[in-house]
Amino acid sequence: MEVIQTIKEMKELASQNRGTGKIIAFVPTMGCFHEGHLSLMREGRRRGDLLVVSLFVNPTQFSPNEDFKNYPRDFERDRKMAEEVGVDIFFTPETEEMYPPDHQTIVRVEKVTQNLCGRSRPTHFQGVTTVVLMLFEIVMPHVAIFGEKDYQQLVTIQQMVKNLHKSVEVVGMPTIRESDGLAMSSRNTYLQPEEREAALSLYRSLQKARELLQKGERKADQILQEVKGILQSEPLVRIDYIQICDAHTLRDVNQIEGDVVVALAAHLGKTRLIDNLVFRII
Ligand code: PAJ
Repeated sequence: MEVIQTIKEMKELASQNRGTGKIIAFVPTMGCFHEGHLSLMREGRRRGDLLVVSLFVNPTQFSPNEDFKNYPRDFERDRKMAEEVGVDIFFTPETEEMYPPDHQTIVRVEKVTQNLCGRSRPTHFQGVTTVVLMLFEIVMPHVAIFGEKDYQQLVTIQQMVKNLHKSVEVVGMPTIRESDGLAMSSRNTYLQPEEREAALSLYRSLQKARELLQKGERKADQILQEVKGILQSEPLVRIDYIQICDAHTLRDVNQIEGDVVVALAAHLGKTRLIDNLVFRII
């Protein structure tokens, strides 16, 4: 595995590989790897001749009161894990090179970023799309792999790629969970033991939603009422939102007809966690 730090070197390698007909698969990350990240890398390994993984903790997707400074970082551990999965190029650019002092360009996707996390994190997705577009320009992937864990992020990137007529296939992969159901997240490392226990109610509430949908319940309000009840019975959980949205537009639905996502965000102490369930009506 080659560790590349400069944008120039990364672009040269990408062009060379494209020139020789290699398929470039790309997994962008912010590090602190867990099985969720590794599952995306394995998929990239299957799909590409050259697998590029980036590790860049992107400052513009954090607002000033968020955890950019404390975001968990462990370069050596991440490097080893990436190597073991068979990553070819580990791209770790410097913040100053990605965002030089005269940086003044933002990529903003409109409608799908307004609801859900966009309400409490109004500048988050423009930070994500700006950095992901930059990374696409540098890595020049044929295929890029993202997790459904960050469902709104996945939909937003798909929308950006479609609207900007980019030639990259965006692939979504299922959420990887701990054995007790908690969705894996780099932020789980912040949880105190009693918060970790209470966080299981997020998964339990989504399981309840699935059960009701499978039984044929189609009124979003009915489902939300039950699901909220489960979350509210945990004193350590402070709900940010729990909503049922059209899986493509991310607009709230009342009467469930097509594919939907049941999405939630909650605070446990200082930690904000998200989770979701995509329910496809065939
Ligand atoms: P990060 O949180 O490091 O996540 C990197 C990728 O791993 C994302 O596509 C995310 O959805 C996926 N992922 C995280 N937890 C997962 C899980 N439990 N199961 C499956 N996939 C999971 O998302 C980001 O970084 C950043 O916003 C980024 C796209 C890199 C832009 O800065």
